[in-house]
Amino acid sequence: MLSNKIRELAHKNHPAVVAIRRHLHMHPELSFQEKQTGLFIASKLEEWGIRHEHGWAENGVVAYIEGQTPESAVIALRADIDALPIQEANEVPYCSRNPGVMHACGHDVHTASLLGTAFILKQLTAHFRGTVKLIFQPAEEKLPGGASILIEEGVLQKPPKPAEILGQHVLPELPSGKIGIREGMFMASADEIYLTVTGKGGHAAAPHQFTDPVYIASQIIVALQEVVSRRANPIIPTVLSFGKINSSGGATNVIPNEVKVEGTFRTMDEIWRAEALATIEQVATGIAKSLGGFCEAKIKKGYPCLINEPRLTRRVKKHATGYLGAENVVEIPMRMTSEDFACYSQVLPACFYRLGTANDEQGINSPVHTNTFDVDESCLETGAGLMAWLAVKELEEI
Ligand code: NI
Repeated sequence: MLSNKIRELAHKNHPAVVAIRRHLHMHPELSFQEKQTGLFIASKLEEWGIRHEHGWAENGVVAYIEGQTPESAVIALRADIDALPIQEANEVPYCSRNPGVMHACGHDVHTASLLGTAFILKQLTAHFRGTVKLIFQPAEEKLPGGASILIEEGVLQKPPKPAEILGQHVLPELPSGKIGIREGMFMASADEIYLTVTGKGGHAAAPHQFTDPVYIASQIIVALQEVVSRRANPIIPTVLSFGKINSSGGATNVIPNEVKVEGTFRTMDEIWRAEALATIEQVATGIAKSLGGFCEAKIKKGYPCLINEPRLTRRVKKHATGYLGAENVVEIPMRMTSEDFACYSQVLPACFYRLGTANDEQGINSPVHTNTFDVDESCLETGAGLMAWLAVKELEEI
């Protein structure tokens, strides 16, 4: 049986994948600077005789593995390769060698797993149909994100053109050996909002002679919550949080000239997202004007919503259950964090699932983006094997 062959190969190759993960973990590189990481990925593919192109979005690598009748079906598999500006606090032999830079979001695990998947599939080309397109994507952690750049460069259009795409991400709340999956809305869009409220400053004892931007900004912040509570459809998750307020003033008795307010808007529906952003601008500028001031609203668009295409996701669930057992495929809630895999999900059927990495007995469960994040490396065997299995099963269905 093919699933057993894949399990065997994933098991046999596990030490090699662990070594790859440790190499990546020791040499993390920040978004848009993944030069050595890209070269390392390319060198592994070269070593295994896998056709690839280096230089997508500068440091990205795209590889191709052809099975039988390569043109009959194409699937894309994606891993992100960049690290974060965090100083690692773990005391492990494979600790980061780059001061202030750490694979604290598991992208080393995603990359090593996908290389493991490539190695497995390369051994099995006689046993599956179609082509697997492997995308090693740079710069997930930093806007505009590597995914949108790769899409602009034609990664989804250039032949072999994939019919669908899969991706996985570590989840330290879930034990290693399990995956978490959710159909439909899964992760939020995330846009940054920058408001500059201008009034006319002066002595705080004579507010009637001036225009107080602190008061105006306060009114705007309160009124904008109406976008969430009164305008948003209650069945579409929506968040508006302001994390930063700064006034140009510096004293209790001075009304400043200007106040800056910064926040994040997140939701799960692209049509509503566009409407909401327009409303935020309208309400903020309208309130400022009605109170005699002025508000400039700048919106920096972030990643879109990540939607797991329902039919594909149901099939992935079914295949994963076959490979891992029903007890190891769990339903997980949606999250208001964002991820640039969402860009692919806006273009073609996509499924993004989470790979369990925890080992509670060994105390390995620190959240992502912390300086103590680490994984139970047995997750690499699950990650590499499962994705190979999902690819060959999906290629039968496309
Ligand atoms: Ni991540």
